[in-house]
Amino acid sequence: MNGDNAAPMAASSYPDELRAQVEAYVEELRFPAPTAPRTAGLEEAMRYSLLAGGKRIRPVLALATARATERDPAAVLPLAAAIELIHTYSLIHDDLPAMDDDELRRGRPTCHVKFGEDVAILAGDALYAEAFKHLLTAQAGEPTRVMAAAAELAAATGVDGMVGGQYLDVAGFASTPEELRTLHALKTGRLIGASVTCVLLLEGLPETATMTYRRFAAELGVLFQIVDDILDVTGTADDLGKPQGSDERHGKRTYVTEFGLDGARDLARECHAAARSTLAEANSPHPVELEQITDFILTRTA
Ligand code: IPE
Ligand code: IPE
Ligand code: MG
Ligand code: MG
Ligand code: MG
Repeated sequence: MNGDNAAPMAASSYPDELRAQVEAYVEELRFPAPTAPRTAGLEEAMRYSLLAGGKRIRPVLALATARATERDPAAVLPLAAAIELIHTYSLIHDDLPAMDDDELRRGRPTCHVKFGEDVAILAGDALYAEAFKHLLTAQAGEPTRVMAAAAELAAATGVDGMVGGQYLDVAGFASTPEELRTLHALKTGRLIGASVTCVLLLEGLPETATMTYRRFAAELGVLFQIVDDILDVTGTADDLGKPQGSDERHGKRTYVTEFGLDGARDLARECHAAARSTLAEANSPHPVELEQITDFILTRTA
């Protein structure tokens, strides 16, 4: 995605140190059921998808937001992990035969291919519930702030968020460019946005102090899905860890079908520029990691 649209730009650097913190934390998560030990197979399916090595963009974004606002990133790890659990659930369900019917995810057979559709559906359901359990029991902070973050996370993943966006997607309800942007803002943008805003809520910052970050996060979320649409066309299954061409197989309306590859790349660059300038407006004392993630989302190849 360089200036002349001829070849991809080298991927930008990523805050690997924050990613390592996330990785170590989620690796430790267990989902035991003392009253029903025979659910171990369910836990196995949940951890199979969770620990398959995604980019961890959402939890890393949460940690980077803590750093940008001069808080300790490690202090928001339970929230960050809850977000990644929810994201993983959304991927398991998105890949199901009734949805995108994909067989590769994070470089492995999808959850339903490995464990069967019934178990995959339940693994997704369980990840969603365990995410809120973890957030509400393991996240330190003033209770009203933890509740505000949980309420935002629920809203971002409900009807006016990710699941609503997935519905618009499967129903094929986005027919104008504005509707397509709304679809992207809901199905992907809201959870990416929540990765920033939930941290601000946890910190108890007033809305006036966080408006600019919110605008930044919303722009970043749409940018993420535009680039996902582009990579569905230009990427390779090896790099992506998921099948290339899934959108075309399903006749999905995407930024590439609407604007062409070059048009989509131009819009991605515009979105990236808007996100960067909004981030600059936020005047963060430590914006480096948020800047890196913003650049990475534009230039990534996976
Ligand atoms: C893929 O998300 C699903 C979308 C919302 C487009 P990611 O590209 O962040 O997937 P992982 O977590 O790295 O596997
Ligand atoms: C799915 O969008 C977004 C989710 C909420 C999971 P896609 O269907 O484009 O995601 P990929 O390309 O399969 O990762
Ligand atoms: Mg989909
Ligand atoms: Mg999909
Ligand atoms: Mg996609």
